[in-house]
Amino acid sequence: MERWQTIIEPFRIHSVEPIRMTTVAEREAALQNAGYNLFNVHAEDVIIDFLTDSGTGAMSRDQWAAIQHGDESYAGSPSWYRFLGAVQKLFPFEHVIPTHQGRAAEKILFSVIGGPGLVVPNNAHFDTTRANVEFTGAQAIDLTPARDARERAPFKGDMDVGALERLINERGAQNIPVVFMTITNNSMGGQPVSLANLKAVRQVCDHYGLPLFLDACRFAENAWFIKQREDGYADKSIPDIVSEIAALADGMTMSAKKDGLANIGGWLAMNDADLAERCRNMLILTEGFVTYGGLAGRDLEAIAQGLDEIVDEDYLRYRIRSTEYLGEALDAAGVPVVLPIGGHAVYLDAKSLLPHIPPLEYPGQSLAVALYREGGIRGCEIGSVMFGMHPDGTEHPAAQELVRLAIPRRTYTQSHVDYVVEVVKKVAAHASDLKGYRIASAPAALRHFTASFAPL
Ligand code: F0G
Repeated sequence: MERWQTIIEPFRIHSVEPIRMTTVAEREAALQNAGYNLFNVHAEDVIIDFLTDSGTGAMSRDQWAAIQHGDESYAGSPSWYRFLGAVQKLFPFEHVIPTHQGRAAEKILFSVIGGPGLVVPNNAHFDTTRANVEFTGAQAIDLTPARDARERAPFKGDMDVGALERLINERGAQNIPVVFMTITNNSMGGQPVSLANLKAVRQVCDHYGLPLFLDACRFAENAWFIKQREDGYADKSIPDIVSEIAALADGMTMSAKKDGLANIGGWLAMNDADLAERCRNMLILTEGFVTYGGLAGRDLEAIAQGLDEIVDEDYLRYRIRSTEYLGEALDAAGVPVVLPIGGHAVYLDAKSLLPHIPPLEYPGQSLAVALYREGGIRGCEIGSVMFGMHPDGTEHPAAQELVRLAIPRRTYTQSHVDYVVEVVKKVAAHASDLKGYRIASAPAALRHFTASFAPL
């Protein structure tokens, strides 16, 4: 097929949502009201919302139509069977347990298999995954090697397989209930995991008799990167690559708010019937009956349709290219970003951009606040605010000080992105004027959501 330079959005706009334009003065007032925490800002006061790609995408005409087919029967709804069929077409696990979102699947799984003294290895835990592991008294360990943010390696999401083996030998296989692989690796910049690495991890799991689970939130984006970058996959279809990934695992957790193209939903799946039984018992306590979990029938329909659309190559080509477009423009302008550009987000390197702000004066927070004040762009600090506070109450600088600009699926156009580039460039040009912050108040856990800050 002919390939043009410009990769267009493979859709037209069918229904629009207004964006309210605000002034710098209005945004400064909003910041003060929010205690300089962007999670506390009203979404109506945001111009471009890059806080997360989770549940913020635009649904298609066919998803809205599917919603009309939603059947709200308590048990055995046809919407459940459509959902089950769509999930198993991509991930043929025997047992599928619907949940209201990804962390509900995590909560159920780790309540059943976690506990004090146990260790869960992952290439990199997402924050709710880590929190759900730790809540049971188990330890969550990340095994993606630290890499230079500028190193353009194709699969920077991979797990260090040697480190996994060392961990198993040190802690004992009997203390490891599961090995997890997060695809794509969100905490490490939305970087993909290769099939070669998944196979190597599978071999180690087989050797020690350990189950391997996927945190598959962005599985289609990961599969697209495999098709583009891994030897031998250029001619494979995305569903075939996804099947190959699924065949290496014993189960998965999923947030359908990402590569389910839905606004809510998720699931937990596995082959082990005994484990599934114990998880279903927990599901009934916390989420709902086994054929709807925490979801309405219409949500199940929207997800089923979304799973058909997410593996479309025209969609994925546009999706990955549009993220790269933002990242490349910033990189070309000399703004430090994590390279290569990940699937769902561009990560600004606040440590490099704001070397005058020490880590515990939160350079990422300072940059995120400045982007909002200057242009109404809402990103998310991923640095010492998010990761600096440890369970023993001590605070240490995080490994990286990043601001994530996460791109909702099918929601913003190229001119929105061009505007973001302009704003980031302006803020970067005046980076040396930015000041740090101190935390004025913070809760005991997951402080980034509700802490308030004061400018220094
Ligand atoms: N795993 C990964 C890799 C995630 O990125 C997320 C959510 C979850 C699990 C939890 O899923 O939100 O449906 O409960 N990530 C969002 C983000 C919130 O902004 O990256 P959930």
